[in-house]
Amino acid sequence: MEKIKDLIRNIPDFPKEGILFRDITTLLKDSDGFKKVIDILAERYKDKKIDYILGAESRGFIFGAPLAYAIGAGFIPVRKPGKLPYNIVQAFYELEYGTDSLEMHTDAIEKGKKVLIIDDLLATGGTAKAIIELVEKLEGDIEEIAFIIELEGLNGRKKLKDYDIYSMIKY
Ligand code: PRP
Ligand code: MG
Repeated sequence: MEKIKDLIRNIPDFPKEGILFRDITTLLKDSDGFKKVIDILAERYKDKKIDYILGAESRGFIFGAPLAYAIGAGFIPVRKPGKLPYNIVQAFYELEYGTDSLEMHTDAIEKGKKVLIIDDLLATGGTAKAIIELVEKLEGDIEEIAFIIELEGLNGRKKLKDYDIYSMIKY
């Protein structure tokens, strides 16, 4: 785990003053590091009978798709507004200034299917909360919500307290 943490680059004052950005691009380009992350997740979820992995656009796609392949689950993209061509369900979440939304197709999850939500980072938990709302609208069953990185100081876990949360690396 320390090796994975060492591959994450820390960028001070991005995207603005006072924010320490955790940059995963340095982890992704390291073939051993990237593989290790997916292997750890696959080991954790391979026997959980998960039907679908839900990945949040865009960084959630990077981890969600290989994990779905590795455990033999389907992959469902949760997308930013206006990208999906079919009927959608929509959920809003707070940004620092204003709101944004995420969308999923209405037929993405059949009632009672077991899903794992994955994203690269848990910060305030707003993104994950919106994805939970989408899954619940379609009556999917959330096995767990997985993150590569958790920023504990932002208390995102509290916002998701009714769900099982896994994070690989904590700051
Ligand atoms: C980042 C990150 C998570 C989210 C975490 O995504 O990838 O999805 O923020 O923040 P939260 O817990 O406060 O909601 P971002 O919306 O910046 O877009 P990206 O994945 O397309 O880079
Ligand atoms: Mg994101």
